[in-house]
Amino acid sequence: NEGAMELTIRGDLPGSSIQPEIYGAFAEHLGSGVYDGLWVGKKSPIKNVGGIRSDVIDALKALHLGVLRWPGGCFADQYHWRDGIGPQESRPKRLNVIWGGEESNEFGTHEFFKLCDLIGAKPYLAANVGSGTPMEMRDWLEYLTSDSNSALANERRQNGQASPWKVPYLGIGNESWGCGGNMRAEYYADLYRQFATFAQSLSGNHVSKIASGSSDDDYNWTETLMRQAGGHLDGLSLHHYSLPTGQWGTKGRATGFSEKEWYDTLRQALLMETLIQRHGAIMDKYDAKKRVNLVVDEWGTWYDPDPSMKLGALSQPNTMRDAVVAAINLNLFNQHCDRVRMACMAQSVNVLQSLLLVKGNQVVKTPTYYVFDLFKQHEGSTLLPVEGQVPGADPIPNVSVSASKDASGSILVTIANLNATQPVRVNFHVAGPSMKSATGQLLAGDTFRTGNDFNNPNAVVPRPLTGLSFKEGVLACDLPAASVAAIRLEK
Ligand code: AHR
Repeated sequence: NEGAMELTIRGDLPGSSIQPEIYGAFAEHLGSGVYDGLWVGKKSPIKNVGGIRSDVIDALKALHLGVLRWPGGCFADQYHWRDGIGPQESRPKRLNVIWGGEESNEFGTHEFFKLCDLIGAKPYLAANVGSGTPMEMRDWLEYLTSDSNSALANERRQNGQASPWKVPYLGIGNESWGCGGNMRAEYYADLYRQFATFAQSLSGNHVSKIASGSSDDDYNWTETLMRQAGGHLDGLSLHHYSLPTGQWGTKGRATGFSEKEWYDTLRQALLMETLIQRHGAIMDKYDAKKRVNLVVDEWGTWYDPDPSMKLGALSQPNTMRDAVVAAINLNLFNQHCDRVRMACMAQSVNVLQSLLLVKGNQVVKTPTYYVFDLFKQHEGSTLLPVEGQVPGADPIPNVSVSASKDASGSILVTIANLNATQPVRVNFHVAGPSMKSATGQLLAGDTFRTGNDFNNPNAVVPRPLTGLSFKEGVLACDLPAASVAAIRLEK
């Protein structure tokens, strides 16, 4: 056990509940994220359910995503929901002004709610504030959720949906400081109040309203929103992407990256902790009871376009670096689940840090997909603090870890070895309930650059974590370099 890291899982100190919505994703009309990715149309030779790819449904359903955000992103503030209802052949074609190309509107409101239903995720809509009106948003909600005899509720029925849907989450605009209207915080706070007034909960639906929040460390945005509109917020969003260089100009390579680029990217992901703490501290000032949720509704890696990818705008390969970035973020969301109650990785299929890469008949589960799969048992569980000194060269610690306890008393520990080339040994001392057995799953590639692609779809897949020992309340595990593991302790 020489050189092992000693950590303690405080099974005797249960914390807050980890909301399933932390394990959410995002689907925007961008590149092949929706068209060809999720949607192939009813007449496609590719197997589908009402136009939605069956293989994608199966893969996403297995992940138990807590929430799915749609239709954007920047796209949301130029989207008019009426374009996407009614017979598909009569829906208008529009320009996708923000991401390029033509928007057929074949995938609209009914198709999105069908998708959520099929994969078991709660819908999280982004309403158009930048170029829409409060009335347009209000009408959408009535169309979706009213059980009345109103013209809008009847129009929904005519379009094939008899019973009203639930809309649990509504974003009021997206990146309103940028693509959503280039607004100042003071102006947006007032606009938020106006729109939120008309985002009514109808027919027993309760709609949680989420304001467009800060990018990265724009603490003034959070301060202004909390001060001017705090009492009207159910949630405030935060966007933070992990760019290897930390710069939007040249972001860094997606493949063939160096060890330095590995650490630079992880350092960007680890910034999420400071962002949650500092935005959280501002929120605490106005909302000591933590009523308002911090909603990290865009996070993930973002690289320069890679010549190997031909899947449309913002498609990028996915390697063990993405898997470790996902593990870092998800562990942080668990650790801060008293304030972070919802999060959406950007995005789901073929866009940025995807869960799935899809082309023709092929679907590739990315290393990131498997991280969500390994972590999903945290959903609805109670956070257990993990204490102890994590060594490592500042500011990259050797590991990222979180633990939780489910209703049956089983403990799930998720851990990532952040070192690109060196293995790590960890001894977990389990305080509190006495546990009997431990089993684990490991995700690792041949090197820190290994990923899954269409030629090699299974280079990174979970396998049993061998060499685990669990004696007298001490769980000892060895993790290879650049890996992610999930260990389950049973009573
Ligand atoms: O996820 C891609 C884009 O990134 C989103 O549309 C926007 O909100 C963010 O800038």
